Amino acid sequence: MLLHVPAVLDADAFRRIGARLDAAAGDWVDGRATAGHQGAAVKHNQQIAEHSKTSIELSDVVLSALERNPLFISGALPNRVYPPLFNRYSEGMHFGGHVDGAVRIHPGSGHKIRTDLSATLFLSAPESYDGGALLIEDTFGVHSVKLPAGDLIVYPATSLHGVEAITRGVRVGCFFWIQSLIRDDGQRTILFDLDRAIQQLTATGADQASCVQLAGCYHNLLRMWTDT
Ligand code: NI
Repeated sequence: MLLHVPAVLDADAFRRIGARLDAAAGDWVDGRATAGHQGAAVKHNQQIAEHSKTSIELSDVVLSALERNPLFISGALPNRVYPPLFNRYSEGMHFGGHVDGAVRIHPGSGHKIRTDLSATLFLSAPESYDGGALLIEDTFGVHSVKLPAGDLIVYPATSLHGVEAITRGVRVGCFFWIQSLIRDDGQRTILFDLDRAIQQLTATGADQASCVQLAGCYHNLLRMWTDT
């Protein structure tokens, strides 16, 4: 499932991130710093150095926005989130097709995180650059994703994906991985659909006992499938 989460960042978070990025001149490093062998061969961009003060501050702003976002929580059912990283593509830069590494080590705790989901948070207005779409391939074909600044796309980390070359301007973004409570994308999609249907039924005043029964089914499936 490709999940589009609009307006993850409110005006205040957006302002804080913008100001911090503007002051980050010396923190940009070659993006291959966090790439595996396969990714390094096709990755041409820059990143904020992962353990820098800037990166930690920026990533905290994004993590706290995610924690307050019901659509993200319902769709991703996050168990562990890798601290968000920040990248920049200027003219000619791109990231060729690749699949993200399956396991990453959390830089703070040392815990292993299985990357069930990959996520990109767009930080540049789409009209400020040409090219730079995120291309995600699945069995339905290739999806070209270029979202308003502040919007998030979440997609299965099993997908072949890349970023097409920038032909004008600069594209700044944030990316991270999620280990979900539900490892299987199909099961997670069923739970997301069920959750949305229950919320819709509740909002439209459907029979309360039936809503309670459906909510019970949701939680019992979650309990049955949860992987912690
Ligand atoms: Ni990737």
